[in-house]
Amino acid sequence: MKIFLDSAILSEIEESYASGIVDGVTTNPSLMKKAVEELKRSGENVSLESYIKKILLAAKGTPVSLEVTSTEYGDMVKEGKTLYRKFNVVAKNVVIKIPVNSSLENQGSFDGIKAIRALSRAGIPVNCTLIFTPEQALLAAKAGAKFVSPFAGRIDDALREGESFDKSDYYPAIGKGKHDNGVVSGVDLVAQCVRIFKMHGIKSRVLAASIRNARQLREMALAGADIATVPFYVLKDAIKHAKTAEGMRKFTEDIVPEYAVFGGKK
Ligand code: E4P
Repeated sequence: MKIFLDSAILSEIEESYASGIVDGVTTNPSLMKKAVEELKRSGENVSLESYIKKILLAAKGTPVSLEVTSTEYGDMVKEGKTLYRKFNVVAKNVVIKIPVNSSLENQGSFDGIKAIRALSRAGIPVNCTLIFTPEQALLAAKAGAKFVSPFAGRIDDALREGESFDKSDYYPAIGKGKHDNGVVSGVDLVAQCVRIFKMHGIKSRVLAASIRNARQLREMALAGADIATVPFYVLKDAIKHAKTAEGMRKFTEDIVPEYAVFGGKK
């Protein structure tokens, strides 16, 4: 399973790429807002264009998803093409993110699906976002999306509505007895998408998104997701364990002077 970083903060992107374990970056308007606000706070001049170019270069040739902000079919296609033309020349790694349904109301609108189809047919790779059902994933794949992004954490949020919880709290993959139209958890949503794509030989990649903790990252791998996109803090959490730290302290205490000959810690 590939791991993408779900962030638009350049320092996070640079640090995670330096680790050598990150295979791509996903952004969205909320993540861009966070990055722009951080730049403003630090007193820097904000040019989103040059900032995005830095992100594309920091991603070292791996895919970077940039989301459109338009909501009408024609506007989304135009914006997607503009973003692709302007930015893909930088590092040849731009993917255009299109919502599966761009309606601001809870209405059936094919604008997103049509935009995915038009951009994909124009040779522009599309990441279809805001997927909350396996059937949305299926339609996005049929429209030609290269990646489909089921939002695991936000499904869990909906399923535990009314409970008190933190965004990063674990929600069991098997659910807690509730379901959203047959989906019992975010991990289950991803698992159902994976199963359908495998069963029908669908080539689109399942990109598990809205991941809030390290255990969910593990469960996405077990569910067979092609890719999981995770915030920086999840990546950091995934490398931690109290017993690893305890083991390190004990091994460090036990270093005998004879070890020094190998150039290690004294
Ligand atoms: C990724 O592509 C999504 O934009 C992102 O994972 C959403 O995560 P959130 O639900 O934690 O905001």
